[in-house]
Amino acid sequence: MRVHVADHPLITHKLTVLRDENTPSPLFRSLVEELMTLLAYEGTRNVRVEPVEIQTPVATTTGVRISDPKPLIVPILRAGLGMLEGMVKLLPSAEVGFLGMARDEETLEPTTYAERLPDDLSNRQCFVLDPMLATGGSLSAAIEFLLKRGATDVTAICILAAPEGLKAVEEALHGLDVTIVLGAVDERLNEHGFIVPGLGDAGDRLYGTV
Ligand code: PRP
Repeated sequence: MRVHVADHPLITHKLTVLRDENTPSPLFRSLVEELMTLLAYEGTRNVRVEPVEIQTPVATTTGVRISDPKPLIVPILRAGLGMLEGMVKLLPSAEVGFLGMARDEETLEPTTYAERLPDDLSNRQCFVLDPMLATGGSLSAAIEFLLKRGATDVTAICILAAPEGLKAVEEALHGLDVTIVLGAVDERLNEHGFIVPGLGDAGDRLYGTV
């Protein structure tokens, strides 16, 4: 498993506004999308491409196009939905599958409540989107789910992670072809399973309290 933490002043700047409790939902949603677009640059570094020959007005040349089967983007509902448009903008030919996961507020254990994915993910490159990696339970479960369906390589893109959760995911997915791209790794996880300093509950800040 590989971990890449983006280190870019624009990402840190946008993250600072995102963290601010006074940032209202409409701005929070635009920032999540913008951060996703910036993280997608790193997250798609290994997207599979194949050579293609084209004719420019001047000469013939060989470029690349995204290979078949097309990549699959999997936002984890709810909060991952906020990242979807930012990713689709950069990878418009990708297909999109959905996984709904919620964390029990007491036990912090994730449960899967919705799934709309191809039955067979053999030879598919998958990109999982979830803004928060807290205990890591949801992300590990989501990635294991995709690997069991036959996905060959999985890249997860998260805006924030807690070091404890990142370590747990590394232990759970040790030796597998998984890449995690992060906007930042924060200080710690608190006793309620929230990232500190974090940004609060991303799902609630995007879509309101359920
Ligand atoms: C949050 C977040 C992640 C998960 C992270 O979702 O979006 O999916 O918790 O926690 P973990 O690393 O400890 O598993 P939540 O369950 O609040 O659902 P929501 O996106 O619908 O708000």
